[in-house]
Amino acid sequence: MCGIVGAIADRDVVPVLIEGLKRLEYRGYDSAGIAVVDANAGDVRRVRRTGRVAEMEAAAQAEHFASRLGIGHTRWATHGGVTEGNAHPHVSHGELALVHNGIIENHDEQRDRLRKLGYAFESQTDTEVIAHLIHYYRAQGNSLLAALQHAVKELRGAYAIAVIDKRDPDRMVAARMGCPLLVGLGEGENFVASDVSAIVSSTRRVIFLEEGDTAELTRDGVKVFDANGAEIQRDVHVSDVSLASLELGPYRHFMQKEIHEQPRAVADTIEAVMDNRGFSASLFGADADAVMRDVEAVQILACGTSYYAGLVARYWIESIVGIPCAVDIASEYRYRDVVANPKQLVVTISQSGETLDTMEALKYAKSLGHERTLSICNVPESAIPRASRLVYYTRAGAEIGVASTKAFTTQLVALFTLTCTLAKLRGKLDGDIEQSHLEGLRQLPGSVQHALNLEPQIVAWAEKFASKQHALFLGRGMHYPIALEGALKLKEISYIHAEAYPAGELKHGPLALVDSDMPVVVIAPNDMLLEKVKSNIQEVRARGGEMFVFADADSHFGESEQVHVIRTPRHVGVLSPIVHAIPVQLLAYHAALARGTDVDKPRNLAKSVTVE
Ligand code: G6P
Repeated sequence: MCGIVGAIADRDVVPVLIEGLKRLEYRGYDSAGIAVVDANAGDVRRVRRTGRVAEMEAAAQAEHFASRLGIGHTRWATHGGVTEGNAHPHVSHGELALVHNGIIENHDEQRDRLRKLGYAFESQTDTEVIAHLIHYYRAQGNSLLAALQHAVKELRGAYAIAVIDKRDPDRMVAARMGCPLLVGLGEGENFVASDVSAIVSSTRRVIFLEEGDTAELTRDGVKVFDANGAEIQRDVHVSDVSLASLELGPYRHFMQKEIHEQPRAVADTIEAVMDNRGFSASLFGADADAVMRDVEAVQILACGTSYYAGLVARYWIESIVGIPCAVDIASEYRYRDVVANPKQLVVTISQSGETLDTMEALKYAKSLGHERTLSICNVPESAIPRASRLVYYTRAGAEIGVASTKAFTTQLVALFTLTCTLAKLRGKLDGDIEQSHLEGLRQLPGSVQHALNLEPQIVAWAEKFASKQHALFLGRGMHYPIALEGALKLKEISYIHAEAYPAGELKHGPLALVDSDMPVVVIAPNDMLLEKVKSNIQEVRARGGEMFVFADADSHFGESEQVHVIRTPRHVGVLSPIVHAIPVQLLAYHAALARGTDVDKPRNLAKSVTVE
């Protein structure tokens, strides 16, 4: 969703801001803007546009924007429509400019108060309130930092903020509560950003601000203050985000690139297990053994694709570990009365580590007394792992396409590792079985590559889907979540309405929809449910439906005019959902391509959903 970048330097920062905003585009946004302090004119200048960063960039170039101090923002509308007037930065009295991520809950109250103090509002946003509030405290004689510190004390809600002021052209200030914000440390220049990718071509040395922190940046230094206003030293991290993972390279879309990166991403994610020569609690953190040893149940919390990864894990955990596993959509869990069990391991799954509902569900679980918390996450130092006792980082590399692909398969690898670890701690994984699961993982990147090699056959199918309005996905057992994921991928990027059902449920409703216009995708690996799936397929066939079956090499499916089959080269046992995720990703990608949609930035969606 919204993104922030800011820079103070001895060079023109406008290209830094524009490049930063382009790197933040993947998060999803509908307008963009920058504001700079023009030291010569003693002014704050701003340019904002709805639509793409490139349009705003063209406007900034046309107006010859250049400055050594500036802030930029990509906005995903919440309070107030998608208009230039609502786009950030917001300016107070032509003096102070501010960008903000998050939502201010008491904005109405503050707006009334500020109106009485003579402030006029130009936008419908909650953000403009903060700009005026800081201006108000500035007018009381406070420094820019002190004014910010006074103002944030009066805000309720979530924010990451960066502020510049034309009366103080050698300073930028920033604050964080509930939304990520980091400070980048350069040589004679410093930066703020909501995401390290925005500044990685200028510096890799970063300080992650903590809840309630404020920061003051000059060209030569950075000071960080805690929630009580006391100066504090925070650790400096060196980011290992690779520039290559942020570039398209030879690919047409990030989604395509990320689908093809999966053999590498899977191999990187299992590396720790291989180095360790087996499953052990230490893979999850220093005190993981104590946390996991007497776990009686698992509760998984996640949203979107990450939730579907959790659904697969339930099958693994209940069958391999033999303990109950519940999986909840985070936004549901956080608002229901939950029966807490302190011996439950609460596992959050999040690619970004900043999905608000998942974070709030975790906080809720903790408030109920759950102390055994584990985060499976792809972004080091993001909010959810920081709030969790144990962490397992997937090593997918930066995922830019809104539709999650390599994050999903690496989450599954992490969840399988968790399953085997819990089983081992409970004496449920004897040496031979452990070795066979390790071997399965070792072979997995190759199996994923084999599935990717099916792409030409899938392209041919996708062309048939392009003209359809609806599609049905069927799966059974641990492949039912893969059917769900396939339907989600197709709908989010191709805008074809798609639904997934457990194949056994077909005759309880969806069969009524089946006709020759409704393609039915079936995930049918060679497992114990294969014969059942074959009967379900007959039910579709008898109603004139056209079927597209993903099977394994040895599944013995008869093909006909109505039944098309693509076979993955080999069946990989319990790891089969990971391999079967690949063809449904490719199908969605190529169907979207055939329909000409904006694959990496599907309409109305965001990569990181940091609002409710
Ligand atoms: C958004 C993204 C999805 C993602 C979901 C959960 O909806 O578009 O791709 O699966 O959020 O995100 P998370 O970062 O928590 O995995």
